[in-house]
Amino acid sequence: MTEHLTIVDHPLVQHKLSLMRDKETSTKSFRQLLREISHLLAYEVTRNLPMTTTRIETPLEPMAAPVIEGKKLALVSILRAGNGLLDGILDLVPAARVGFVGLYRDPETLQPVQYYFKVPPSLEDRLTIVVDPMLATGNSSVAAIDLLKQAGANNLRFMCLLAAPEGVARMREAHPDVPIVTAAVDSHLNDHGYIVPGLGDAGDRMYGTK
Ligand code: URA
Repeated sequence: MTEHLTIVDHPLVQHKLSLMRDKETSTKSFRQLLREISHLLAYEVTRNLPMTTTRIETPLEPMAAPVIEGKKLALVSILRAGNGLLDGILDLVPAARVGFVGLYRDPETLQPVQYYFKVPPSLEDRLTIVVDPMLATGNSSVAAIDLLKQAGANNLRFMCLLAAPEGVARMREAHPDVPIVTAAVDSHLNDHGYIVPGLGDAGDRMYGTK
C-alpha cells in the first residue's frame, strides 16, 4: 500500500456506517453491521498483498494459479472494541494468526495503559493488520504499534471504522510507515476524546454495556 490514508467511500460502507451512527440502532444490529463493514474494509486493507503462483490441476488442465505469498497474516485486535472488526476480517482470512493488545484509556489523561499483550510468533515475517474501530486521539493505536514493532513487526497496516483528524495526524507523525484504512474521517474530537459526530463508545454500543 502506498497511500498513508485510504477512505473507503463505497456506498455499502457509507450506508452501513450511517446505520451504526444512529443512536437508535440496537446492540444486535450494531454488531452485525460492524462485522459486515469489516468484510468490506478487509477487502481494501488486503489489496496489493504480494502474490505468487502454485501449480494445480483443474478438471481440464494444469495451471499456475495465483495465491497469496508468504506466511499467514497476523491480525491484532486492540481490546476490546477491536474484536468487532476482528470477527469480520477473520471471516475472510480464516487462517490468519491472531494477537491481542489490551489497552485502556485513562479517563483523566486519555493516555493508554497496557494490561494485556499476546501476539503470534515470527511477526517480522508477516503482514500485521491492527484493528480498532475508533482512531480518536491516536494514543492507543500508536502505543499498540510501538509494542508490535518492539515484538518484531515491520510490515503493518491499521484498519478502523472511524477516524478523527487528530488521530490520523498522530499516526502519521509516529508511524508514517503504517497505512490506515477507514470508512470515514469525522470533524474533530470533543473534550472527552470522543469522535464528533462519531457513533459514541464503540465498545459499549457493540456489547451493550451502557
Ligand atoms: N472510542 C470510542 O469508542 N469512541 C470514540 O468516539 C472515541 C474513542
